[in-house]
Amino acid sequence: MDNIRKIAVLTSGGDSPGMNAAIRAVVRSCAYYNRKCVGIYRGFAGLIDGDFKELDARSVKNLVNRGGTFLKSARCKEFRTEEGRKRAMDNLQNEKIDALVVIGGDGSFVGAYVFSREFGFPVVGIPSTIDNDINGTDFTIGYDTALNTVVQAIDKIRDTANSHNRLFLVEVMGRDAGDIALNAGIGAGAEEILIPEQNRGREHLLESLDRSKKSGKTSSIVVIAEGDQIGKNILELADFIQSNLTEYEVRVTVLGHIQRGGAPSCYDRVLASRMGVGAVDALLRGETNVMIGIMHTKIISVPFSEAIKGNNDIDMELIRVADIISI
Ligand code: F6P
Repeated sequence: MDNIRKIAVLTSGGDSPGMNAAIRAVVRSCAYYNRKCVGIYRGFAGLIDGDFKELDARSVKNLVNRGGTFLKSARCKEFRTEEGRKRAMDNLQNEKIDALVVIGGDGSFVGAYVFSREFGFPVVGIPSTIDNDINGTDFTIGYDTALNTVVQAIDKIRDTANSHNRLFLVEVMGRDAGDIALNAGIGAGAEEILIPEQNRGREHLLESLDRSKKSGKTSSIVVIAEGDQIGKNILELADFIQSNLTEYEVRVTVLGHIQRGGAPSCYDRVLASRMGVGAVDALLRGETNVMIGIMHTKIISVPFSEAIKGNNDIDMELIRVADIISI
């Protein structure tokens, strides 16, 4: 597409490890194809404020290994208004920008989708969130790193849990999705895993913990996704367990934002690099209103309308495995 001469890139929503590698891949693809590239700071907020900076291949050096996003990120309410989006469009026109790459999660894609249709402006998305909750892609950037962070943290918790014969409730991120809890729970050897996609009730949890104790387990870990119904108030859940199973000594750990930081894993760096190149390729093929995804190891384009449908599917096979190995 010869009419795409200048491409802008921004990061939006909650940051995730590998966003820098994705920006780098977009910038370097632009350089490779002899296109100009502009970085937009603070996501859609910077798009509305005109916070732009031209980037060349060298301006993204030493970034592939760094967590966070050097372009900064924001959750921007103003972009939900027509007036905000109009100001954003004016800024893109003034800078003679022909297309936009949005690196973020499903909330950012909703904004990008509305904007792209409103002004007929070419936009491509790159899925980047630790939650792995976007439809149409097997993986999102940052998810693998977050899993490894969680597993390492729970390994440490296991040491102290075991020393004191304690039960630990560990809350992990995942606003509406249990992917982190389920996979990290299996990886870290949790006794029980509570996820928003499957509510088995408190009684099931008590029965399971009681069985564990009777089978000779001395310490236990329960991993809980922050969006899970039973675990929503983790301190209250801890009290409930403590008062019903007095033989347990219960402790709570909320892992919080450490899950979003740190150097990206190799998997996330490679995924981000492939998706960054894929985004520029898609724009130059004339595609718009699509997200770059990965399915069965292949890079694909998915319409935004599909990507924003929400992804609450959980692999039942994983739940079966978790149940079997925690016996
Ligand atoms: O969407 C990613 C995520 O990390 C969720 O898991 C979490 O609920 C949310 O962002 C936290 O957002 P914030 O950093 O804005 O509090």
